[in-house]
Amino acid sequence: MRIGTFAKELVSTARQLATPGKGILAADESLTTLGNRFSKINLENTYENREAYRSMLFTTPSLSNYISGAIQFDETLKNKTPEGELLQNILKKSNIIPGIKVDKGLSLLSNDETLTTGLDGLEDRVKYYYSQGCRFAKWRGVIKISNKTPSTLAIEENANSLAKYAYICQSNGLVPIVEPEVLAEGDHDIDTCAEVSTIVYSAVINALHKHSVLFEGILLKPNMIAPGIKSQKKASFQEIAQKTLETLNRTIPPAVPGIMFLSGGQSEEDASCNLNEINQINKGKGPWVLSFSYGRALQASSLKAWHGKNIKAGQEALLHRVKMNSLATLAKYQKENGNGESLHVSNYSY
Ligand code: 13P
Repeated sequence: MRIGTFAKELVSTARQLATPGKGILAADESLTTLGNRFSKINLENTYENREAYRSMLFTTPSLSNYISGAIQFDETLKNKTPEGELLQNILKKSNIIPGIKVDKGLSLLSNDETLTTGLDGLEDRVKYYYSQGCRFAKWRGVIKISNKTPSTLAIEENANSLAKYAYICQSNGLVPIVEPEVLAEGDHDIDTCAEVSTIVYSAVINALHKHSVLFEGILLKPNMIAPGIKSQKKASFQEIAQKTLETLNRTIPPAVPGIMFLSGGQSEEDASCNLNEINQINKGKGPWVLSFSYGRALQASSLKAWHGKNIKAGQEALLHRVKMNSLATLAKYQKENGNGESLHVSNYSY
């Protein structure tokens, strides 16, 4: 088995990423997505502004106390600080494992459903990213809930792509973050989300088995189990946590070291409250480290505070969010009653 060459390293990297008390900073927004975010603070989507933003995030003092890894976009590998140091080196020096998004976004599959692209040439790209110091990767498969979806086709095709990606990554030394995201889009209730997610996660795990992926050397990045954004029936943090744990317990092997949730459009505080509740209920039970790999729920207030120029304010806001989520992984987070603004974006692409 080709993965054998890297097995020890993969297990060690995955465990480091899932260090209790730490999470992952997802900062791998594509050029268009970051452009959309910048437009909200009236900032032009230029190379220099993207570099300045990511430099602000990655040079945050003490970030590594709460963050074990950072997911980057391809362009970021070339980015430098104002002093001329590669951001990639800044991460390594501060003991944050550099990661990279390797999927190439969504393509239409059928009936308004999508399949993630990027398998063409993936092996060469993964080899290159490893040579540049990256040690883990991300691939996001997206599933939509509606009257007609998800179709068996979308579930199977996305599961197979995630498994192919995972195998190629592991064969070349990168820990794959396997991200099956059941979108919050829609008016479905929490039980429907649980039902669909159970089917989706089972298909993904089955496909990973078929592709001989090493479970100890992956991380799972799922959605939390919650009602759709337009659902009439809201759910408490406790219900969300209970259903999320029930669904994961039914589908995910204990060999997986860490489950690093996506935030999926939840407000910054809701994402912390839900993660805290999950860890509260699961205290002392295992088998996985239950942590975060948030994008929007770590960066939203930081981007606003930075506003294109205020590095100190941006870094303080980021540090605050990573600290709060670190506490949530330890079930020690106290609700802040501050920023409950939803970060949901319709048909969000990353
Ligand atoms: P959000 O936390 O903003 O959902 O993004 C995480 C991510 O990496 C999605 O692929």
